[in-house]
Amino acid sequence: MSAATEATTGRTRRSPRPPAPPTAEALPLELAELITDPDTRIVVCCGAGGVGKTTTSAALALAAAEAGRTVVVLTIDPARRLAQSLGLVELDNEPRRVDVPGARGELHAMMLDMKRTFDDIVVAHSTPERAQQILENPFYQTLSSSFAGTQEYMAMEKLGQLRAGDRWDLIIVDTPPSRSALDFLDAPNRMSRFLDGTMIRLLTAPSRTGFRIASAGFLFFSRIISKILGGQLLRDISAFVSALDTMFGGFRERATATYELLRRPGTWFVVVATPEPDALREASYFVDRLSAEQMPLAGLVVNRTHPPTTTALSATRADGAAEEALESGREGAELAAGALRVHAERMTLATREQHLADRFTSAHPEVAVRTVPAAAGDVHDLDGLRVMADALTGPDGDTPTGVPRRRILPARRR
Ligand SMILES: Nc1ncnc2c1ncn2[C@@H]1O[C@H](COP(=O)(O)OP(=O)(O)OP(=O)(O)O)[C@@H](O)[C@H]1O
Ligand SMILES: [Mg+2]
Repeated sequence: MSAATEATTGRTRRSPRPPAPPTAEALPLELAELITDPDTRIVVCCGAGGVGKTTTSAALALAAAEAGRTVVVLTIDPARRLAQSLGLVELDNEPRRVDVPGARGELHAMMLDMKRTFDDIVVAHSTPERAQQILENPFYQTLSSSFAGTQEYMAMEKLGQLRAGDRWDLIIVDTPPSRSALDFLDAPNRMSRFLDGTMIRLLTAPSRTGFRIASAGFLFFSRIISKILGGQLLRDISAFVSALDTMFGGFRERATATYELLRRPGTWFVVVATPEPDALREASYFVDRLSAEQMPLAGLVVNRTHPPTTTALSATRADGAAEEALESGREGAELAAGALRVHAERMTLATREQHLADRFTSAHPEVAVRTVPAAAGDVHDLDGLRVMADALTGPDGDTPTGVPRRRILPARRR
């Protein structure tokens, strides 16, 4: 699905004519095939904030369950109404079955409870007394619920746990509303760097070898830090880190193992964006990063597009016709002109969106694309998810307007 540009890269002889300009025709992204393939075990939906990662994850999970697979979707901070319609009324950190009438498979959903996941690791990896010490430590409490990157890290942890159980045919993973889509991939490293952090070690281990030399300076330094941070916090950190020492190795190993899980065959990334410059730029960074890390990319979902109901009439012609209608002064002319103007605006918007998508494809011709039209309102129930699932998984060429689903407007004839 991902490697498809050999034809353009394998050319060795010089052609007599200059090569044609690169086409901006995206490859089709066939998500139905991907999610029903028994070899597909993990699908990770990532992208910039607010583009539709959670909704896409839930819609794909629904489609896979309807196609007969036993699916769990790990959602992160779903909108309240969506959570309710998936039966996720409280955070309990375990998958709950969603009743999907008529589905051949099973849909289960869960919301990530970051703190609970962190607590569970602490309990599983230390003695009961140590665990108690850590859990009660105020510094731990802050870290486990608010440290930037904890959510990303815990999503990975939870994914590791779900995968280890082998209960699921398919795990669909939503990713946190990060500033940057890359945060998800960076989280394990950042987390272990933090726990291993020189700063923390400096603060908490003044008597260790190596620090004695600097101890006069260090004492001064630590006194200043105490003043700024407060002695209690420093003691909390110190107690936390020494308690953590016992399980620290574990953290790092697990971070590495989960990262490796993401590179194993059977895992696919779906990058979600909206047809806007920032979201597509973010998608572009992410695509580059996945390829640098040799992580498998299924393709790009361009969500919330605005295709017109007909593409037979261009914006210019619609505007012209509106003018003419008004000039004619006939009965109903204003209404007709209004409708034509709405169409013209929609065509202009769709043209802009197509242009942005084309720019992405010119830069990444190997990335398959699927566009998903914006629904009239929010997507917050099973019916809404089903409409979205159809847009995501329907065959590329099978649309009422004849425009393939990898595009917003028909391709220009060359
Ligand atoms: N195709 C669509 N049509 C209409 N509304 C949509 C569509 N996709 C998503 N939405 C709406 O957009 C909003 C954001 O979607 P969602 O929560 O899935 O984004 P997200 O990427 O998970 O956001 P965050 O980064 O905050 O986690 C929601 O209100 C959702 O209902
Ligand atoms: Mg979300």
